Amino acid sequence: MYFRQAPGSHPAQYLGKLQMPRKRLIAANWKMYKNPEQTSAFFRDFLPAIKDHTRDEIVVAPPYIDLHAAVAAAKGSNVSISAQDVYWKEEGAFTGEISPSMLVAAGCTHVIIGHSERRQYFGETDDTVNLKLKAALEAGITPIACVGEVLEEREAGLTEDVLRRQCVRAFNAMSAAKAAKLVIAYEPVWAIGTGKTATPQMASDAHIIIRAEAAKAFGQEFADNLRILYGGSVKPDNAKALMSEPEIDGALVGGASLDPKSFTAIVKY
Ligand code: PGA
Repeated sequence: MYFRQAPGSHPAQYLGKLQMPRKRLIAANWKMYKNPEQTSAFFRDFLPAIKDHTRDEIVVAPPYIDLHAAVAAAKGSNVSISAQDVYWKEEGAFTGEISPSMLVAAGCTHVIIGHSERRQYFGETDDTVNLKLKAALEAGITPIACVGEVLEEREAGLTEDVLRRQCVRAFNAMSAAKAAKLVIAYEPVWAIGTGKTATPQMASDAHIIIRAEAAKAFGQEFADNLRILYGGSVKPDNAKALMSEPEIDGALVGGASLDPKSFTAIVKY
């Protein structure tokens, strides 16, 4: 059989059967940084710099308090706005929590779920990740679900087991049709905020494991279309090498996304 390669795409995306190349997604995770005024200032510099960029999908996830400013600033642009967490109930006596429909009403299209900092400091588990994923998908929000091993697990040779367990539990009782918008971020915990990056090969190996779990849960076609981002010390100077890997479908960027210049350089890898 003969497949023609689309310009700018990677040949591996055309292995097997012909399919649309996966559009890469570059997401900024601001964590607990910036207030509304600083958010508006970021977009004043960032939006003109990436104005005509269509090759990749661009997402910015500020703290809840900045969503209003971010959505207002990004309106009509090529940037989508994400929350960093969500609760799975629609409404009720849950002090401090935000529901999926509230995020939709605020203009959010994406939400990060199960980030390792939430697992580490705020009691997030594989089961709450599953509940949040289902609630976000039900509300029509694109979830970016984070998985990844800690250093001790990698050193003990447990990376594959950990990734499989996190995926199996995250995907529990979800149909392929419902999960269609799902995005996964592979974030080895030892690479987050440490300046240590997984090599493109290490990330690629992990992505293959995650994609295989997605194929088991949702079928091969779903897995072929699933975008798996890499996160963990992505910087302007390593973004290109990571993004050249056919298994890596984008990046979740923490520290280097706070400065509009450095995030622009990553988006334009
Ligand atoms: P980092 O964070 O880029 O600062 O390592 C990534 C993340 O936690 O999503």
